[in-house]
Amino acid sequence: MKITLFRDERVLAKALAKDIAAALREKPDIVLGLPTGRTPVRLYHELGTLHAHHEADFSRATTFNLDEFLGIPPEHPGSYRTFMERHLFSRVNLAPERINVLNGGAANPDEECRRYEAAIEGAGGIDLQLLGIGTNGHIGFNEPGRELAARTHRVTLRASTRRSNAALFGGDPASVPREALSMGMSTILHARRIVLIATGKSKARCIGRMVEGPITTRMPASFLQVHANVELMLDDAAAGELAVGS
Ligand code: PGA
Repeated sequence: MKITLFRDERVLAKALAKDIAAALREKPDIVLGLPTGRTPVRLYHELGTLHAHHEADFSRATTFNLDEFLGIPPEHPGSYRTFMERHLFSRVNLAPERINVLNGGAANPDEECRRYEAAIEGAGGIDLQLLGIGTNGHIGFNEPGRELAARTHRVTLRASTRRSNAALFGGDPASVPREALSMGMSTILHARRIVLIATGKSKARCIGRMVEGPITTRMPASFLQVHANVELMLDDAAAGELAVGS
């Protein structure tokens, strides 16, 4: 894995936004995989700024979000769809018909998962998958456990994951949906290029295990070790438990 270190999250976000703008210039119809969470917020704002300065044109790009809560409609204030509208979609010129987010309000969640997989395939696969990482090592909502799912699937959220999403639901973990839909490990690993971003001391332990530990379903992000084109963009704090630097 290529590891690039940054002084702080602001410098990291600026560098990655520039990288994405360059990727858009090289392939205007790029297919992007997008994460939610606190980590990418600054990146999305940087992309909005680049777009405002005519340096990032999303008009022909396609996006697929990694995951969504199940049992709430897209327009729910706590949904990842709403998060994305606020932080990215309203700030850039993506064509609405090329924005893809799993529908957490779907009447048939399994069918929704199949539809999503087919849509990714129909778009030609994901060129650049951006990822965050949970402190427990999850990517998307692929939670640590005895087994992992390959394709887009329905998942029961861990208590820790529900706690870390409480801010989207008025601060109350009990209000966070118990289930979600998520791309699977294989869906993610099929992306042609993957960039994982992590900032802050709370991520140091899982970054250390992900890079230097065994590949195990107990640390879903460890599977990124088998991908040929993965870059980790870390601030110094998140890299704190790595034995080797960049
Ligand atoms: P965070 O979430 O960016 O809010 O830390 C990352 C994740 O859980 O994937």
